[in-house]
Order: sequence, then structure tokens, then C-alpha cells
Amino acid sequence: MSSQDASSTPNPSHPAESTPASLPRLGMAAPLFEAVTTHGKIRLEDFRGSWLVLFSHPADFTPVCTTEFIAFAGIASELRRRGVELLGLSIDSPTSHIAWALNIKEKFGIEIPFPIIADSNKEVATLYGMLSPGESKTETSRCVFVIDPDGIVRAMIYYPLTTGRNTDEILRLIDALQTTDKHKVATPANWKPGEKAIVPPPTTLEEAEARLRSGLECADWYFCKRAL
Ligand code: BEZ
Repeated sequence: MSSQDASSTPNPSHPAESTPASLPRLGMAAPLFEAVTTHGKIRLEDFRGSWLVLFSHPADFTPVCTTEFIAFAGIASELRRRGVELLGLSIDSPTSHIAWALNIKEKFGIEIPFPIIADSNKEVATLYGMLSPGESKTETSRCVFVIDPDGIVRAMIYYPLTTGRNTDEILRLIDALQTTDKHKVATPANWKPGEKAIVPPPTTLEEAEARLRSGLECADWYFCKRAL
């Protein structure tokens, strides 16, 4: 496995649990990795040019994680329509991932169409700060990293072990990010595709005065919306 940031702080008692000098940050390059997955070896760079949802789950063969995998499989085609790939991760072995995917197919009739990283030595989990020792020393938290086609971290979500994620919200987040990139707007609370978006506020007095005469739907000079 390789990382852009070789300057991690080693933990002498367990080298794989070193603390990276810098965890992923919004707007920064996502840490590079190469990992073993259920679809063979995968590098982060393989996704360059596509959006990527990299998500971790605590453990295979657990009920909440099973509901999440069924839900992620359920949005996989909608994500692909938006140019987004899915990549799962836990610190279970490749054999465990394969057995669990086959079990989900047998018991629930759902095929898992995306690769799952077998991060047995916790390298990717450590690099991305997916481990929350206060919650569990043996499982990754329910993390989601949205990485754009240039390899930049655009969003991060952390959920605890006991709360399954909302995949509709992940789709909504992708729609919001792609809408921001396309139209140079921000999206308000609970925004959904088709609704008006927020025009970035003016940064000068002249722009603020012009904004009020702009014909946009404005509650005040700093709060204007437009249809897309
Ligand atoms: C679950 O997926 O059901 C689960 C995993 C870890 C802790 C609690 C629940």
C-alpha cells in the first residue's frame, strides 16, 4: 500500500495502527492506497475520472451492516448513472467478504455489485481515520468518503456502530455536489434535485446593491435563489 503522506506517527506496539500525520480533509487530495478487494487488487488512482463513494462497515455477517449492504446495492445503478462508483471496506478477510456476499445473495436475493476492501491489517482504515477506538477496537465505524473525479475529498460522513446509514441521503449528497459543480450554486437544507438553489452571496457592496436589482428571487441581498 502506498500513501501520499509517508510522515505518519508510528505506534511501536502495533505498526499498522500508526496515526497518520494528516487524516482526510474536505477539499484535500484523498490518501492514496492499494488494497485487496473482492474484485482483485484496487488502487485509489483506478477511480480517477469517476466519482467514488468509499464506505466502511464494522463487520461482515452482522445485521445492520447487512441492511446497509442491501441498501447500497439498491442505489448502485442510480449512482452509476451519475458517474459514481462504490467501494466498501472492513477489516475482515477476503474469504469472509466473499462468504458474506454469497450469503446475502442466498438469503435476500441481492447481488453485491461493488468491490469490498479486505483491510485485514487496517492500513486503509488507519489512513482514512475509520477506526474509532472509543467505540470499538476491532471494527471500523460507518464512514462515507465522497471523492471526486480529481481525487479530492468532497464530503465525509461518520455514523456510529448502532445506526445504519440512509442511502437516499448519500444519493442526495452526490446530486448536491454535482449540482454545485455544474451550476456554481449552493444547495439549501433538505434540497432535492429540481428545487431552486442558493446563489453564492455577494462579496462587495456594489455586488450586493446589484443583486437586489438582479431579478433573482431574493429575501435580502445575501439570500437569493434561482431555478437551475
Ligand atoms: C450490526 O451491523 O448489526 C452491528 C455491527 C457492529 C455493532 C453493532 C451492530
